[in-house]
Amino acid sequence: MQIDITDLYFTYPTGVEALRGVSLHIAPGEQVAIIGQNGSGKTTLVKHLNGLLQPTRGTVRVGDWLTGEHSVAQLAARVGYVFQNPDDQLFKTRVEDEVRVGPLNLKLPPDQVDAQVEHALDLLGLVERRDLHPYDLTPAWRKRVAIAAVIAMNTPIIVLDEPTTGQDHATVQELGRVLAALRGEAKTVIAISHDIDFVATHFSRIVVMGQGQVLVDGAPEAVFAQTDLLASTYVEPPQITRLARRLGIDAAVYSVDGFVEQLAAQAGPQMRRRR
Ligand SMILES: Nc1ncnc2c1ncn2[C@@H]1O[C@H](COP(=O)(O)OP(=O)(O)OP(=O)(O)O)[C@@H](O)[C@H]1O
Ligand SMILES: [Mg+2]
Repeated sequence: MQIDITDLYFTYPTGVEALRGVSLHIAPGEQVAIIGQNGSGKTTLVKHLNGLLQPTRGTVRVGDWLTGEHSVAQLAARVGYVFQNPDDQLFKTRVEDEVRVGPLNLKLPPDQVDAQVEHALDLLGLVERRDLHPYDLTPAWRKRVAIAAVIAMNTPIIVLDEPTTGQDHATVQELGRVLAALRGEAKTVIAISHDIDFVATHFSRIVVMGQGQVLVDGAPEAVFAQTDLLASTYVEPPQITRLARRLGIDAAVYSVDGFVEQLAAQAGPQMRRRR
C-alpha cells in the first residue's frame, strides 16, 4: 500500500513548528529508514500515518484514504505503529494476550487471529515466552513483544519508531531478519533509527530529517556521501564509510561487503588472491 505525504506542516499547540513542508512518496512494499537529530520531527511525521496527529497544513494519504477522513481505529487496519517506548504500548499481563489485542480489535475471525498471533510470536522468537508477564522481561525483550503485537495485525504498512534503541547486538541482528521476512511479505516498512550501521545494512532508501524538513532522500551511497549535510543534523556516516574515507577509498562505501570489494579493487591481484 502506498503512502503520499504532500507539503505537510505540523505545529504543536505549544507553538513548536515540528514539520515544515514535508513531501514523501513511499511505494508499496518499500522499506525506508528515517534518520536525523533529536527533535527533527521524525516521530511527529510518522504519527500522521495512523491519524494520531492531523496536519496543520498539507495532506497525508494512506493508500486511497486521506487520513483526515478516517478514524484512528480505521487507520489501524492499514498502519501498524510500534511506539518509541514499548511501555507506552504494553498493558496486558501475558505476552500472548498482548500480541492478541491488535488482531482482536480488528475483529478478524478467530482462526485468523490465532494464525496471525502464532506467526508474530514465532517471527520475534517469543513462542517460549508467551506465558510470561511483559514486565518480567528485559526492555529488549519487551520491545520484541511490542513489535510482535503490531506484526500480528498483519497491516500492509508497519512503522517502527526506534526499534534498535536499547537493544543488544543479538536483537539488532534479529531485527534484520524480521525486516527481511517483512520484505518477503511485501510489507511497507518505515523505521526511525539512530543506529546508522543498522540503517546502512538493512535499508536501500534513507530519508534524513533536520528541523522539520527532509534534507536528503535516497540510496545509502548517495545519502552518506553528503557529509556536510549529515553533520548539520548531527548524523555521522557509518563507521565503515568513515574508515574507507580515511584510507583514501574514493568510491561510496557503506557496508562491510562494499568495503572489502573496494579494498580488493584498489589493492590489486595480491589482495584478491587472499579473499
Ligand atoms: N507533544 C508535544 N508537544 C509539544 N512539542 C512537541 C511534542 N512532541 C514533540 N514536540 C516537539 O516537536 C519537535 C519534533 O519532535 P519529534 O518528537 O517529532 O522529534 P524526533 O525527531 O522524533 O526526536 P527524537 O529523535 O528525540 O525521538 C521537537 O522540537 C519536540 O520538542
Ligand atoms: Mg522520536
